[in-house]
Amino acid sequence: MPDAILTQPVPRLRVQAMKEYHPPLGSRDSLRLDFNENTLACSPKVREALSRITTGALTRYPEREPVEAIVANYLGLQPAQVALTNGVDEAIHVLFETFLEADDELLLPVPTYTMYEVYATATDACIVPVQAADDLAFPFERLVAAITPRTKIIVIANPNSPSGTVCTRAEILEIARLAPQALVLVDEAYFHFFGETVIDLVGTIPNLIVARTFSKAYGLAGLRLGLLAGPVDLMRWARRVLSPYSVNSLALACLSPALEDASYLDWYVAEVLAARAEFEAVIDAAGLHRWPSRANFVLVDIGPRHAEFTRRMREAGVLVRDRSSDPGCDGRVRITIGTREQMRQAATALRDTLAALNLEAQ
Ligand SMILES: Cc1ncc(COP(=O)(O)O)c(C=O)c1O
Repeated sequence: MPDAILTQPVPRLRVQAMKEYHPPLGSRDSLRLDFNENTLACSPKVREALSRITTGALTRYPEREPVEAIVANYLGLQPAQVALTNGVDEAIHVLFETFLEADDELLLPVPTYTMYEVYATATDACIVPVQAADDLAFPFERLVAAITPRTKIIVIANPNSPSGTVCTRAEILEIARLAPQALVLVDEAYFHFFGETVIDLVGTIPNLIVARTFSKAYGLAGLRLGLLAGPVDLMRWARRVLSPYSVNSLALACLSPALEDASYLDWYVAEVLAARAEFEAVIDAAGLHRWPSRANFVLVDIGPRHAEFTRRMREAGVLVRDRSSDPGCDGRVRITIGTREQMRQAATALRDTLAALNLEAQ
C-alpha cells in the first residue's frame, strides 16, 4: 500500500490568484434594473417556438450548423464566418483560450464588463488595463500608446458597460490597423440600442472579430445564446476550442423566430430609448451626475452612500447595480432602462430614496 496522500489536487497558480466572481443574483422578483436584460419579455414568436419543441429535439444532440447558416445569411456573412456560442461569455472564453499564450498581452479598456478579466486571468497572458478618464469616454489615445509587439487581443465593448460610452468606427479601424498582430474583439452586446456596428467589416479587416448576444434586446438571457463573427481563418481556430454542443436545442430553435420578429425587437428598442430619455431627465432634475449612454442602462454618480442607495432601492422594489468596485467607479450605480412605465416606477423609487438619504438637489 502506498503511503496515504495527504495533499489535494492543486489548481494552477493563475486560478488560485483569481477572485471569486458572484454576480448578485439571488431573489430577483422585483423590477430588474441590475443586469441590463430585457425587462419585459422575448418575442411571442419565440414562446411559440418553445411550445413546439419535440421530444426528438430534446433527445438528440443539438445541430448548430444549419442555424449558423441562417444567422450568417441574416448578417450578410458566410456561414464559415459565424459561430454560435453559449452567450457572449463563452465566445470570450473560447477566444482567449484559442489565442492567448503565456506572456501575451491583452489590452483591456476599463472600467468594462467583468468577464473579460475573469477569463483572461485564467490564461497565462498578461492583462494590461487601460483606464478611462473621469468622463469614461473610450480611452483611444491611451489604448494606442499601450500597444506593443506582445499585444495579442484588444477588447472593445461597444457600447461599453457600465459606462454606456462608445468607440467610433474610425477608432476601431485605426486600432486594428496599428495592431495587426492582435485580434480586435468588438463586443456589440448592446448593439441594438446603439445602432452602429462594424459587423459589415468582418472578413475585410483580417484581425477583427465581432460578438453579439441574444441576452439583451432579444430578451433571451436565460437561453444563453451569442455569436462570434470573424474572418474564416480565425474562426477555424476558435472552432477547435468551441464545444460542438454548447448551444442547446432550445436556444437553436428560438434563434430564427427571434431574428424574424423584427417588429417586436424594434418596438422594444424604441420603447427603451424613449424611457432612457425620460429617465435621464429625472436624474438630471435630481442633480445627479450621469454619463452619456448609448445602451439600455445609465451610470449614475450617487457618491459615498452608494451601498445604502442600492439597498434602499431594493427595498423599494427596484434592483440596481452598484459598480463602485469597478476601476474608477467609486460611488457609481448602474441602472438598466426598461419600458417607460417601469422607469416611472423606478423614478418614484429614485426620488423617494434620494429624499430618505437627503441626497436631493438643493
Ligand atoms: C459588454 C457585455 N458583453 C457580454 C455580456 C454577456 O453576454 P451573454 O449573456 O451573451 O453572455 C454582457 C452582459 O452583461 C455585457 O455587458
